Amino acid sequence: MTNKTILITGASTGIGKCCALHLDQQGFKVFAGVRKLADGEALQNEASASLQPILVDVTDTASIKQAVETITAEVGVTGLSGLVNNAGIAVAGPLEFLPVDEIRHQFEVNVFGQLAVTQACLPLLRQSTNGRIVNMSSMSGKIALPFVGPYSASKFALEAFSDSMRLELRRWGITVSIIEPGAIKTPIWQKTVKSGMEILNKLPPKAYEFYGSAIKKVPQILENGNDRGIPPEKVALAVAHALTTPTPKVRYIVGNDARFAIGFAWLTPYRLRDWLVSGRR
Ligand SMILES: NC(=O)c1ccc[n+]([C@@H]2O[C@H](COP(=O)([O-])OP(=O)(O)OC[C@H]3O[C@@H](n4cnc5c(N)ncnc54)[C@H](OP(=O)(O)O)[C@@H]3O)[C@@H](O)[C@H]2O)c1
Repeated sequence: MTNKTILITGASTGIGKCCALHLDQQGFKVFAGVRKLADGEALQNEASASLQPILVDVTDTASIKQAVETITAEVGVTGLSGLVNNAGIAVAGPLEFLPVDEIRHQFEVNVFGQLAVTQACLPLLRQSTNGRIVNMSSMSGKIALPFVGPYSASKFALEAFSDSMRLELRRWGITVSIIEPGAIKTPIWQKTVKSGMEILNKLPPKAYEFYGSAIKKVPQILENGNDRGIPPEKVALAVAHALTTPTPKVRYIVGNDARFAIGFAWLTPYRLRDWLVSGRR
């Protein structure tokens, strides 16, 4: 690949930051999407002079437009060789009581935001000889567990968008790869405890009457997720492969837990799966 110019959204922390730094080391010109100038400056301190932070909130049309205009002015006719749609948040709690606006916000960031950025970047990706799109899904995009319904639903939707788009863009040679990590050690777990508890604390008493014991376990489950998480570098390697190999894979499963969960979802009949996940009714 001659043109090695990419945009990564959500590069302030975690997987996005790790991908930005790894690809910067691999000689890519990285536009690293952040929402705060300070995060961009911190990233620059760890990267080569080539890495360029760019302000982009994936839920804000004006911010996406501005970011794409800036990139267009920088890259000229060579365009963008890759887009890594990584920005994401997680909303957790019982679907019966979670405010629908919170679930909408989950979709605004993880689904519509990714789509809006992709639409805005496609002219630049077409300008490149072989543009590539890499979408950050999750094992939760393949198996939906209780109390993470909004997050799982957003990742299932991202999987479907990715499959349709891959087929639609095939004739232009633009590839779409989906990354499906298991638990990765990043700040998302702590952020989800914080934002999750703010939401859960506002739920009506009935939510606690019905789901109290499960709600109380949410922080511990999230802490456990972080503790057993593998380093984000594993995901960065998969992203780099999708951006550089002549024939990128459609799906990259990252981590043994993801391989197990996806295999389990594929092989196990629903009733047995339900019983194994949440016991007897
Ligand atoms: N960690 C895991 O176990 C795991 C597993 C599977 C998949 N994933 C996926 O990997 C991706 C990255 O997550 P992570 O674990 O690295 O979490 P993270 O450290 O919390 O990173 C999330 C990134 O998304 C950004 N972001 C949030 N809302 C945004 C918005 N509206 N516009 C633009 N950027 C926004 C955050 O920016 P701010 O700092 O400004 O909030 C941050 O840079 C997510 O899509 C997540 O679903 C994570």
